[in-house]
Amino acid sequence: MPLMLVSGAQWGDEGKGKIVDLLTESASLVVRFQGGNNAGHTIVIGDKIYDLHAIPSGVLRDGVTCFIGNGVVLDPVQLITEIDALKQKGIIVDSNNLVISPKAHLIMPWHKLLDMSREKNAGKGKIGTTGKGIGPAYEDKSARTGLRVGDLRHKDIFLNKIKIVLQEKNTLFKHLYNLPELNAQDIFDEYMRYADGLLSLVADASFDAEAIAQKEIVLMEGAQGALLDIDHGTYPFVTSSNTVAAYASVGSGIGHAPVIENIALVKAYTTRVGNGPFPTVDTGEDGKRLQKNGHEIGTTTGRARDCGWLDLVALKYVISLNNYTSLAITKLDVLSGFESIKVATAYTLDESETDKFPSDVSELEKVIPIYTTLAGWSEDIRGITEWNQLPENAQKYLLFIQKSLGVPISIISTGPERNETISFVSQESSVKNLADFLKAQHN
Ligand code: GDP
Ligand code: IMO
Ligand code: MG
Repeated sequence: MPLMLVSGAQWGDEGKGKIVDLLTESASLVVRFQGGNNAGHTIVIGDKIYDLHAIPSGVLRDGVTCFIGNGVVLDPVQLITEIDALKQKGIIVDSNNLVISPKAHLIMPWHKLLDMSREKNAGKGKIGTTGKGIGPAYEDKSARTGLRVGDLRHKDIFLNKIKIVLQEKNTLFKHLYNLPELNAQDIFDEYMRYADGLLSLVADASFDAEAIAQKEIVLMEGAQGALLDIDHGTYPFVTSSNTVAAYASVGSGIGHAPVIENIALVKAYTTRVGNGPFPTVDTGEDGKRLQKNGHEIGTTTGRARDCGWLDLVALKYVISLNNYTSLAITKLDVLSGFESIKVATAYTLDESETDKFPSDVSELEKVIPIYTTLAGWSEDIRGITEWNQLPENAQKYLLFIQKSLGVPISIISTGPERNETISFVSQESSVKNLADFLKAQHN
């Protein structure tokens, strides 16, 4: 049961969905271990576009089992909508390809309402959440008042728990947010309508360590990105789960298996959606051009993502957190046509130069990036599949990143489609075929 880990190394939307779908060719189980439907992954296969939020990005491959682990917070209404949307596109999601941990926490109506009410009241200090109830759901998990998927099996207890939780939440809605109170029976009735469908997907005792141990390669799919991690990210402008690769064991219950590859997803430039510091943001023409060429619009909220240059200070920090074995550089094609490309290699903070990523946002807000400028390339590189076909300046850009970060590049993405990819081109590796590479690592 060797593990392959894939996680975002920036502020999310690095193209994890595309790369996980691609790597799933070699995996038999794909696991989501944190986050919820705040995630939005767009996967393009031929003329079809799939948007995934809670379901792991392995679902588009036949014969792959997808597992939603205990670390995830799950909105049943959204899950049903997502399953229906996939069905419309010919992908059937049922107990043959999706298994849910009974320990995953449910996102309840009060979580979504609280998330939105807080953001509305926060004014300038708002985080810019996706409004999906993620933070409040994780809060209740930690407070030990959360409802879990497995609780749907016990109707009386479920209703009782809703009543207890609502005593507190309704006080907030009524007195703080000036909103109507929520009705326990209505919520119970609604969730009971989802119960059978959801429980038909819940892991029974047979889907345990033994079943997982038999899987050939298990792919752990991170959502969001390391800089949104609740502990290690740009707190408080983060999400409410641990997004670093190390959380994969905790959020899935699959521990102590050998990790054959731990891949950092790095977009060839940087984007951020929501509030919080973003040192290399470009608010001028270049940023607009990255936004337009990269179609940087959020899959979950439809918000335009802020865009800017690659930040090696932030990436070095993220690498120190994750112990990655290789980098997947995505959206390289978006940089085509820029005469020059900037890369932040250090910051100025309080008039001193530093290569340390500050842990305090009040400091991060003050840093001024120090850029190295590299020559761009004019050729359209979309769809290129061979290293040798890349323009020399594109190769130089990639080698600059690899050398600066000290981690080999294993994958380069040159377009949204599966085949628009260069795999295992790192200078050290002569292996060109991903499946062979993984098997070689495994043996
Ligand atoms: P995720 O949340 O990390 O899975 O990323 P998103 O799906 O939210 O955002 C990435 C977007 O870029 C999606 O629309 C992908 O289809 C697209 N994409 C992925 N890789 C590439 C690439 O190499 N080039 C281009 N042009 N688009 C890409
Ligand atoms: P994927 O998996 C980009 C951001 C929100 C906000 C902050 C907190 O597609 O990369 P939350 O709703 O989680 O409480 O919002 O985190 N955020 C993301 N940004 N991609 C995501 O997921 C994100 N999920 C949450 O914009 O700034
Ligand atoms: Mg996304």
